[in-house]
Formats: sequence, structure tokens, C-alpha cells
Amino acid sequence: MNVLILGSGGREHAFAWKIAQSKQLQNLYIAPGNAGTANCGTNVNIAVTDFEAVKNLVWEKDIDLVLVGPEDPLVKGIHDYFLNDEVLKDVPVIGPKKDGAQLEGSKDFSKQFMMKHGVPTARYATFTKDNINEGLKFLETLNAPYVLKADGLAAGKGVLIINDLEEAKTELQNMLVNSKFGTASSKVVIEEFLQGIELSVFVLTDGKSYKLLPAAKDYKRIGEGDTGLNTGGMGAVSPVPFADETFIKKVEEKIVKPSIAGLNKEGIDYRGFIFIGLMNCNGEPFVIEYNCRMGDPETEVVIPRIKSDLLDLLHGVATQTLHQKNYETVNETATTVVMVSGGYPEAFEKGKPVNGLNEHHDSLVFHSGTAFKGDEVITNGGRVFAVTSFGNSIEEAVNKSFATADKINYEKKYFRRDIGKDLMNY
Ligand code: AMP
Ligand code: GLY
Repeated sequence: MNVLILGSGGREHAFAWKIAQSKQLQNLYIAPGNAGTANCGTNVNIAVTDFEAVKNLVWEKDIDLVLVGPEDPLVKGIHDYFLNDEVLKDVPVIGPKKDGAQLEGSKDFSKQFMMKHGVPTARYATFTKDNINEGLKFLETLNAPYVLKADGLAAGKGVLIINDLEEAKTELQNMLVNSKFGTASSKVVIEEFLQGIELSVFVLTDGKSYKLLPAAKDYKRIGEGDTGLNTGGMGAVSPVPFADETFIKKVEEKIVKPSIAGLNKEGIDYRGFIFIGLMNCNGEPFVIEYNCRMGDPETEVVIPRIKSDLLDLLHGVATQTLHQKNYETVNETATTVVMVSGGYPEAFEKGKPVNGLNEHHDSLVFHSGTAFKGDEVITNGGRVFAVTSFGNSIEEAVNKSFATADKINYEKKYFRRDIGKDLMNY
């Protein structure tokens, strides 16, 4: 098969690394890719939302399967674009159509979906400018902290968690009246705060059957001890020690099965990954959010723990034969440590030369934000590398990742040295 992966981060490098190992692969293209994906296939410099350029590439390279990494092209309807095009309609796209991508693209849609299909989630209500006064009253019925969510995509910044009632009321007004997050906050979901420990569960589905992929925990804050600003993710661990077999069984029965059945009842033909953000509240799972794609950096620990041929599984998704496919995972623990550019998630500089990539080390170094300047690898993003290692324990794995991260150098590099630390006592 000729395969095209859309995206340019660590997630796409992990996909490319895995798919490059498949016996079923002929040629692999990554658009736009990065300096790391160039080792797995051919990078093509086109934007993931330039559907016409994607079409030309698929036609030119005789692509048999397209794997979409990020949410943006899915929410904008890349899968529908393929289905509505005479040339592309028979080329399978892994990733939902616009209707399924609403699970991520609209918080209001996803909350309604959960309520309708009996998926446990926090109590909520949705408001617009027209009923803002009811929203202000609804806030008074809740206890602090208050959770306000912009309905639409807001680059991961659309969720506010506020301790003070008056401040929450002001922010609700800012979102609805002053368009704090543009049109994304023309609707706002207000929900109850869930107390517990967070983790993520990943599902691959062909719309009929599914495979439950390894669970992972990510580390969202920039600072050690979970302090400072939110980022795209500073590290991840899989498996998650507090998500034991009993808990995962509950997730499968109470969340995964009703979600897949719900999609079917709604007539949504969903083929792709579902990333379910969960809160473990005293052993009971509640859904915080759905995403219509894999997580980054969670992919960098989840995909390496899959022993089976990923391309074979994706082919199963495309042909709705996923139930026939072999699916095995490795028991070892995988950790990833994300190396970022100094200043991230605020302003940072790009274009710094990277040294030490060819040193001997015991890790998989996935590139998140790199590019070539001639033959030299340079930094090209806030998140630069995701360094993944295996071990018999979190400690063993993460120490390998730290040792590798110590050997890779660029100006103002930073990474958290406490990834997985909170989980070592489970
Ligand atoms: P989301 O974009 O929906 O994933 O929200 C971002 C983050 O806010 C989540 O990863 C949680 O840490 C937190 N969060 C969202 N909703 C809730 C909730 N109802 N209770 C507690 N924390 C929440
Ligand atoms: N690491 C969180 C995400 O990919 O949304």
C-alpha cells in the first residue's frame, strides 16, 4: 500500500515510524512532516488543510490510504471532501467525517451525545448570548471551582477553571459577549468540576467493532509538580498504574461500548481513533472530553506499545474488518519526555541547531517540531522532541528518556524531570 500521513508532530512521527515497519507498506508520504519523519518516508510540503493540494498528491502518488493526524482537517471535513470527489471517493481516510469530528469540534454536541447515550460525564448546561442571565444563575447553583468551556475549537485554550464565583461570571460574559475565544465561545458549556485523577483511553474503530488501545497519562503543565501554564503535553506514561483491569473494564462497559453504540444510533459512520479524556473519581470513570484523533504526546507511548502491524489494523478500519485483525500489545512500560524550546508555551525562538541526535542512546527519539536547514536539523516548534523509552517500571523507562534528553542539545532546551514521578507509588 502507498500511505499518506497528514501532520507534522511527534504523533505523526510515531505513526510513520510504526507504519514504516509494515510488510504491507510500499511507499510512505508525510505531509508536511518534519526532519524526523523524513527518516521513515518522503515529506511533502503541503498544509494539512489545503484539501486541493492533498488531492493532487493522492492522485500523483497513487495513495491507497490516508491517515489524518490532527483534528483541524477532520473538523473542516477532509473525509467528506474525499467522499464527495469522483477521483478520491474510493481512497479510505482514517479519521471521522465532519459529523463524527463534532465529538471534538463542539463541546455542546459531545455533552448532548453523552447524555443521550448514557455515558457518565459531569452535569452541565449550555448557554449563548441570548440566555446569558440563565447562565449566570446556573453558576450560582454550582460549587467552586467553576468549569467554563468554549463550545468550539480554541487551540486547547478554551477551558477555564475558576475558583471565584464573581470571576466566573465575568469570564462567562467575556466569552459570550466579548468573544474571548472568537466564534468558538459564542456558545459556552458550564459544567460541574470533577474531582479525581485524569487519564486517557484510546479506541480504534471501524464503526462496527473496535480495539481498545493502551491507556496513557499525560503531563499538561510546563512546570515540574504540575505547575505553570498549560501546554500541548510535556510527557506521557503507558500503561497507567491506577487504571487496573477492573477500572479499564468499567471504562469499556460504561463508556466505550455506549459511545460506539451511540454513534451507530446517530447514523454516524465513524472510522478512526477516539481519544477519551477521563477522570477517575473514586474508581468510577467520567468522560471529560472526546477527541477525534490520537493525543500528542500520548501517541508516542501508545503506538510503540502496539506489537501488531498498525497498517494492517488501519486497513481493517478502512474495510470494516477490524474484528478479524490481530491486535497485541507489549506489557512493558513506555514513557515519553517532551523536550521544548525555552519560553514555550509563550513566545520562543525557532531555528536553533540540534546536536547529539546521533549519539548512542536507549530511546526512540520522535521529532515534534524540527526542520532541515541544508543537512542540519534545527528546532522548528515549541515542542521539539518526544523521547520515548521502555522499561520494566516507570522509573527504569523514564530514566532512559532523561539520559537521552541530556545528550540532545540545542539552545534553551527544557524538559520536565518529574514525568511519571506521581505514578511510581501505585
Ligand atoms: P478539555 O479541553 O475539555 O480537555 O479540558 C482541559 C482540561 O481541563 C482537562 O484536561 C481537565 O484537566 C480540565 N477539566 C475539564 N473539565 C473538567 C471538569 N468537569 N472537572 C475537572 N477538570 C476538568
Ligand atoms: N496531549 C493532549 C492532546 O493531544 O490533546
